[in-house]
Amino acid sequence: EKGGYDHFMIKEICEQPKAIRDTLKGRLDLEKKKVVLKEIGLDKEAIERIDRIFITACGTAYHAGLVGKYVIERMVQIPVEVDIASEFRYRDPLITENSLVIVISQSGETADTLAALRMAQKKGARVLAITNVVGSSVAREADDVIYTWAGPEIAVASTKAYVTQLIAIYLLSCYLGQLRGTVSGEQLEEIIEALVRLPGQAEAVLKQQTQIREMARRWAKWEDAFFIGRSLDYAVAMEGQLKLKEISYIHAEAYAAGELKHGTLALIVEGVPVIVLATQKEVYEKTISNLQEVKARGAYITAVAFESDQEIGKLVEETIYIPDTISLVAPVLTVIPLQLLAYYAAVERGSDVDKPRNLAKSVTVE
Ligand code: F6R
Repeated sequence: EKGGYDHFMIKEICEQPKAIRDTLKGRLDLEKKKVVLKEIGLDKEAIERIDRIFITACGTAYHAGLVGKYVIERMVQIPVEVDIASEFRYRDPLITENSLVIVISQSGETADTLAALRMAQKKGARVLAITNVVGSSVAREADDVIYTWAGPEIAVASTKAYVTQLIAIYLLSCYLGQLRGTVSGEQLEEIIEALVRLPGQAEAVLKQQTQIREMARRWAKWEDAFFIGRSLDYAVAMEGQLKLKEISYIHAEAYAAGELKHGTLALIVEGVPVIVLATQKEVYEKTISNLQEVKARGAYITAVAFESDQEIGKLVEETIYIPDTISLVAPVLTVIPLQLLAYYAAVERGSDVDKPRNLAKSVTVE
């Protein structure tokens, strides 16, 4: 059932182009350059009323939520808060009837996420779920559901579910932006075109597996690694460090690149591995200056950057290139090499990749 692959995790990583395609299917009107989400009951009037959005989830799904905050605020112009479900449910958040609460859960059964959903509904908010499992508890109880069509995810470490959660967020942001009039026709067209190109571009990233596997041999020897980035790259850095930790057991941390000098830079000495994500053009120069800061301390730097950015390769030890796209959708591509590096480092270290120690696929107790 692993279809010739050694592990479910690598099978699922390789299924991402299809998962993206399936999640986009039927939801883009390419003629009118619009997003169609027939499954959502939120109409124009209900959307006009929303004055605040909360996103809540756990683990990888929470990391998708971090991307969601940036994307929704940019496209829909409504303030968004993102919270880990186990924090959200106990902190008495200021939810009202005019709040939209988005819960993200691959399984749709995560205890804390489900409890957060119920709490939000009790406070009168409308809850929209992004989930991968039809008929799951979250799907049944939410007011609206956007399904991610990743197909069954067996490996404990989430990969294809994460990228489809991102796709669902882009679709939802376009949809809300269309109805609220906060996104121009041109912007929509640009995003839709970028979304359509993603499956093919994800294939192109996967073609670099041999090179990434080679790099992972070096990564496997590490005991600590730092992931840095700004804006959406920071959100992806969070996901990258979690993947590495949970399956390879290498200690890793993610930092907003500008935050390093407020403490963590003290740990950056000769040979310390730092992964720099540099895809966000709005903060590119700033990211490069943070790269220079760690370089000056002798860090061993791996960069993830766009193909068109050949300059960065001259500054660092190794670079993984991803196809060029707009900043907003870059996370879908940036995360793939990080998944592959975590996977191959874990294989190299002999971990039980699909069932890492102490972890369960579905966390139905808090
Ligand atoms: C990490 C991972 C977990 C889940 C988290 C939430 O790779 O898979 O962090 O993302 O347990 O699970 P769901 O999405 O099922 O609510």
